[in-house]
Amino acid sequence: YFDPSKTIAEDTLQQLLRFLRSTPSSVNVQPNHFYVLATPEGKKQLADNLGERFQDNAEKILNASHTIILTTRADLPDSHLEAVFAKERADGRFPDPSKQQLWESMTRNFLDLRNYGYKDLNHWMEKQTYMAVGLTMMAAAELGVDATPLEGFDPTSVDKAFKIRESGHTTTVLLALGYPDPQKVYTTPISRFDPDQLFTFI
Ligand SMILES: Cc1cc2nc3c(=O)[nH]c(=O)nc-3n(C[C@H](O)[C@H](O)[C@H](O)COP(=O)(O)O)c2cc1C
Repeated sequence: YFDPSKTIAEDTLQQLLRFLRSTPSSVNVQPNHFYVLATPEGKKQLADNLGERFQDNAEKILNASHTIILTTRADLPDSHLEAVFAKERADGRFPDPSKQQLWESMTRNFLDLRNYGYKDLNHWMEKQTYMAVGLTMMAAAELGVDATPLEGFDPTSVDKAFKIRESGHTTTVLLALGYPDPQKVYTTPISRFDPDQLFTFI
C-alpha cells in the first residue's frame, strides 16, 4: 500500500532511471522500452486498463508515486540489431573495429540459436526484462524507495491503452514505486522456505 501524498524526488527518480538504463541484457540486446508514468492522468490510464480481473492493482498504481511499464520487443527485426551495433560503435564499446565485427557475428549466431534452435526468442527477451525489474527493485531499496512488481494486468489491454504494439513492443511487467502508507505497513513475518530446502551445497 502506497502513501498517495508522497512523491519520489526528481533527483532520486533520475538516479533510478539511470540505473534502469544501465541494467545489462544478454548479448546487449536491449529489447526494452519503458513508460514512466509520473502524472495522475498517466497512472489513471494504466489503472483503468488493467483488465477486469485485475482491479485490485488499480489502487496500488494510483497511490504509487510513479509506475513504470516495462515493455519488451515482440520480435527482433534486423533494424533493431543494426541500431544496437551502431550505438556500440558510436559509444566506442570496442576500440578495435575488428573486435566489434567479431562481436556482431557472435551475436547474430547466438540470436539464430535462440530463434531457430531453442525457438524461445520472445521468452528469452522477456527474461532480460525480468532481470531489469529485479535489479531496479534492489536499487530502489538502496534509495529508500518501496517497489512492487505487478504481474496482475491484461497485457493486451495495457498494450492497447498506450499503443504499445505500434512500436513493436508488448507489456511484460509493471513496477510501482513510492513510499509505504504508514497505516497499512505489514507487520507479519515474511514467509520463505527454510535454507535447507533452498540450497544444495556440493
Ligand atoms: C514478478 C512479481 C509479480 C507480482 N505481481 C503482483 C501483483 O500484480 N499484485 C500484487 O499485489 N503483488 C504482486 N506481487 C507481490 C507478491 O505477491 C509478493 O511479493 C509475494 O506474495 C511475497 O510476499 P512478500 O513480498 O510480502 O514477502 C508480485 C511479485 C513479483 C515478484
